Amino acid sequence: MAERNVSQSHFKVVSRNSLLSFFSLITILFMMSWFFILRSTRPEDNPSSIDRSSLPDSNQFSTLNTDSPLGNRAILGDSQDLEPKKIHVTKKPLPNDNDDTNDFGKCSSKPRTSGKKNVLKIFMYDLPSEFHFGLLDWKEEGNNGVWPDIRTKLPHYPGGLNVQHSIEYWLTLDLLASEQLPESSDSRTAIRVHNSSEADVILVPFFSSLSYNRFSRTDPHEKRSNNKALQEKLVKFVMEQMEWKRSGGRDHVILAHHPNSMLDARSKLWPATFILSDFGRYPPNIANVEKDVIAPYKHVVECYENDSSSFGSRTTLLYFQGAIYRKDGGHVRQELFYLLKEEKDVHFSFGSAQKGGVKDAAAGMRSSKFCLNIAGDTPSSNRLFDAIASHCVPVIISDEIELPYEDVLDYTEFCIFVRTRDALKKRFLIDFIRSISEDEWSRMWKRLKEVEKFYEFQFPSKEDDAVQMIWQAVARKASLMRLKTNKSRRFFRSVYGSNLGNVRVNSMSTPKNFW
Ligand SMILES: *[C@@H]1O[C@H](CO)[C@@H](O)[C@H](O)[C@H]1NC(C)=O
Ligand SMILES: *[C@@H]1O[C@H](CO)[C@@H](O)[C@H](O)[C@H]1NC(C)=O
Ligand SMILES: *[C@@H]1O[C@H](CO)[C@@H](O)[C@H](O)[C@H]1NC(C)=O
Repeated sequence: MAERNVSQSHFKVVSRNSLLSFFSLITILFMMSWFFILRSTRPEDNPSSIDRSSLPDSNQFSTLNTDSPLGNRAILGDSQDLEPKKIHVTKKPLPNDNDDTNDFGKCSSKPRTSGKKNVLKIFMYDLPSEFHFGLLDWKEEGNNGVWPDIRTKLPHYPGGLNVQHSIEYWLTLDLLASEQLPESSDSRTAIRVHNSSEADVILVPFFSSLSYNRFSRTDPHEKRSNNKALQEKLVKFVMEQMEWKRSGGRDHVILAHHPNSMLDARSKLWPATFILSDFGRYPPNIANVEKDVIAPYKHVVECYENDSSSFGSRTTLLYFQGAIYRKDGGHVRQELFYLLKEEKDVHFSFGSAQKGGVKDAAAGMRSSKFCLNIAGDTPSSNRLFDAIASHCVPVIISDEIELPYEDVLDYTEFCIFVRTRDALKKRFLIDFIRSISEDEWSRMWKRLKEVEKFYEFQFPSKEDDAVQMIWQAVARKASLMRLKTNKSRRFFRSVYGSNLGNVRVNSMSTPKNFW
């Protein structure tokens, strides 16, 4: 018994000593690892230094700031009327053509002739016209089959609030123009090719937002809406194509700008890259910022041409006009309303921008220094793009918002971002806005006038307008799409040889992992 006690206490002493040295060793290791972690993360404190230089088109953007004085030659049409008035048909190149009739531009200046760029080669499915221009009541005619002859007449796009999501129309027109009117634009970022083996990406030209806007209501005597039926047909069509089968859709581009468009098809076509307004209504395995492209809304207010306003002449400090939503966004809007309603130079009112509302909103934004963008029932809205077109510095209160081309554009140069939880603190927002100096505001206002052209949808497209910026964003995804395609083909290749046309890609049915 005694012996055992001795050996036990001996053991205790030994173990205490070794524990102590073990503990101090751990402490030293721990401190050293912190030191290395801190050292290795420091460069990321300033990510902007890497961001731009590593991107393909980065130098293009640094020059945009300085040498693009905004032109005054744009024609200001009624923004509700999307159809360009005249089409200048010519077989000759137009580089020195000063004839304004060819200019359907809204805000932006005449494109500068650019250096050589990599042009994105796009194969576009010849979908039956009911999926695209047929939705605009265009009828197939002549030799062009399912596509309109845009040399003679453009199919008319309906006005109203449909316009916001019209990217599908402008992008498709641009591809048709690359073929039918190759000289109509001084610069091209994308061209249509007919051999899909030579294409960088495959476009599915379904006007899904228009289909949602026009056909989502169910007829009383029909089981499902036409919008649903079209999506079902689309999925069937696309999945039968050799191009889809060989890549499992990973090199496909699908237009789904309206948050409710493609509601049914998205769960089948998710391996493709979607062009979206935000991810608000998408689960992250179906759409995410790595895979997909965010495109701007088409603004509904007119461009502010010849804007000679100033900090002083814009008498309203902060402008907000929008709907109250019953969902999450509504609560933030309501609280902000109570926080701001006593401020004399703040315009805050509820009500959606219907017909007459658009003109009032334009006038309101043009006479305001800052314009509030508060998340609504989706993180994004066309209000941001209306603010940009009005050169009203956007104040963005929407934690989940994703912004177009943010990989190549620094939004902090012309937008203010405020976290929702901060904005809801008493006096935080108003004190913050009031602390922004005239100089700082003027810098952002000037930058807004430079960047506004990135958000202009027009036909023919112009250098770095919205159409071309979206194609460029797709081009930046193209190598990832190729990588995923190549990866997905690893095993099929060894088993079936390179005859991929007949391979059925069954592993695609569950969207757990899009790699
Ligand atoms: C399409 O392009 C591939 C690769 O360049 C070529 O091998 C093939 O012959 C082309 N097909 C046609 C129909 O031109
Ligand atoms: C802007 O200025 C140009 C030339 O100074 C003029 O031709 C054009 O009509 C103006 N636009 C508007 C909307 O005032
Ligand atoms: C995918 O494979 C093609 C050849 O089939 C090759 O040219 C291309 O570079 C590969 N892309 C990537 C991203 O690995």
